[in-house]
Amino acid sequence: PKKAVLGPLVGAVDQGTSSTRFLVFNSKTAELLSHHQVEIKQEFPKEGWVEQDPKEILQSVYECIEKTCEKLGQLNIDISNIKAIGVSNQRETTVVWDKLTGEPLYNAIVWLDLRTQSTVENLSKRIPGNNNFVKSKTGLPLSTYFSAVKLRWLLDNVEKVQKAVREDRALFGTIDSWLIWSLTGGANGGVHCTDVTNASRTMLFNIHSLEWDKDLCQFFGIPKKILPNVRSSSEIYGLMKISHSLKAGALEGVPISGCLGDQSAALVGQMCFRDGQAKNTYGTGCFLLCNTGRKCVFSDHGLLTTVAYKLGRDKPVYYALEGSVAIAGAVIRWLRDNLGIISSSDEIEKLAKEVGTSYGCYFVPAFSGLYAPYWDPSARGIICGLTQFTNKCHIAFAALEAVCFQTREILDAMNRDCGIPLSHLQVDGGMTNNKILMQLQADILYIPVVKPSMPETTALGAAMAAGAAEGVGVWSLEPEDLSAVTMERFEPQINAEESEIRFSTWKKAVMKSMGWVT
Ligand code: G3P
Repeated sequence: PKKAVLGPLVGAVDQGTSSTRFLVFNSKTAELLSHHQVEIKQEFPKEGWVEQDPKEILQSVYECIEKTCEKLGQLNIDISNIKAIGVSNQRETTVVWDKLTGEPLYNAIVWLDLRTQSTVENLSKRIPGNNNFVKSKTGLPLSTYFSAVKLRWLLDNVEKVQKAVREDRALFGTIDSWLIWSLTGGANGGVHCTDVTNASRTMLFNIHSLEWDKDLCQFFGIPKKILPNVRSSSEIYGLMKISHSLKAGALEGVPISGCLGDQSAALVGQMCFRDGQAKNTYGTGCFLLCNTGRKCVFSDHGLLTTVAYKLGRDKPVYYALEGSVAIAGAVIRWLRDNLGIISSSDEIEKLAKEVGTSYGCYFVPAFSGLYAPYWDPSARGIICGLTQFTNKCHIAFAALEAVCFQTREILDAMNRDCGIPLSHLQVDGGMTNNKILMQLQADILYIPVVKPSMPETTALGAAMAAGAAEGVGVWSLEPEDLSAVTMERFEPQINAEESEIRFSTWKKAVMKSMGWVT
């Protein structure tokens, strides 16, 4: 059959903590044409540790590319129409590999991992100057969340890493770097780079000068020679070169020209290009980012200052304030994998619907401590308010409510920092397909929640950056481009007083979860 004729297409790898996807969009209409998704394993070798296999992650990317290309073929769409590829990724997760063999030297240490708690405590005792040393340069608090301390742990504890550094064979990267290096040839000439958004999550990057910071590298004891080159979020980094994988090899020679940490990618995909525009993405964690334009705004309420995007080598950098919640979708996975009260993630909606209330049960999923606005690594998860009446449906409902309460905490902090309260919340991410969750979110925030009909905005943002890059030029980033996107809207349905009572009970539960580990 004759192949369908289409405009230029752009592919996007979306490598999240729970799954990998490859998606292909039509650059003229932003329509999603085909995609494939593969779940990624997480290993918990010790209490508080979270690891992933970098090779499994890479393999999942190949598999998603192959399957998506196969599906395009079934739709009669010619793969040679794919003109560029963007990468968006779980941020902070840390990999060190051998540049001669392409072999990772240890598992990836995932952003949620808490093994560096004592490293953080020790470092915080010897912060030079004032306590603001790290935050003023990076926008981040000194925390187990960010890459520098994970890399410090690898340098201190893994002999293979130490040896490779001595022999000049070690490369460090977050997942974007690992993927781009591997997809552009790996040990045969792979490009070792990252973009400003991912670099801004390492705690080694100066968000004002947009360079690796000498003083920070010294403070954390990180050799600069293993760090990737920092590039903008939209430029050609290299060409696809994956000869060993037959079908993914169909994209041989296509430029990789977009790279953004997943939360920045979602901000772009939601077209939040103006000062004050914000989005909240529900993935493994939950991340509310508000564009603050070309100004670095520092929070007084536990939010991070981060690089939002820099869409081209000569384009200006934009910043964002971010409220980070460690556990959102991960709590559903925990109910599935650890408690077995559901067998697939979408069953949660059915269970929650059966009761329509948590019946006084509150669930604080502080599995990795609490992030914004508390930043308490010693917090641990609790389920409280249980009676003999409580059943798994109430716990399922409380888990969904927990995601909404945590969002309310970061939205309140954002409103305090910005001065002008958000009038509605733009949302995206896998969990937004859950209608109960969305309605609960509107009730608990007491403002409307607005969701685009195509929730894959993270991948869309990476595709936009890739398609718009100099030398590719198949995507125009004019704001009106996506004005036709249809939105679903959830209005608050309870009264304000009830909303407040539920939120203040949640806060009581949070207080009980804090300071648990001494
Ligand atoms: O900072 C971590 C974040 O990038 C992870 O995103 O989508 O895996 O929850 P996600």
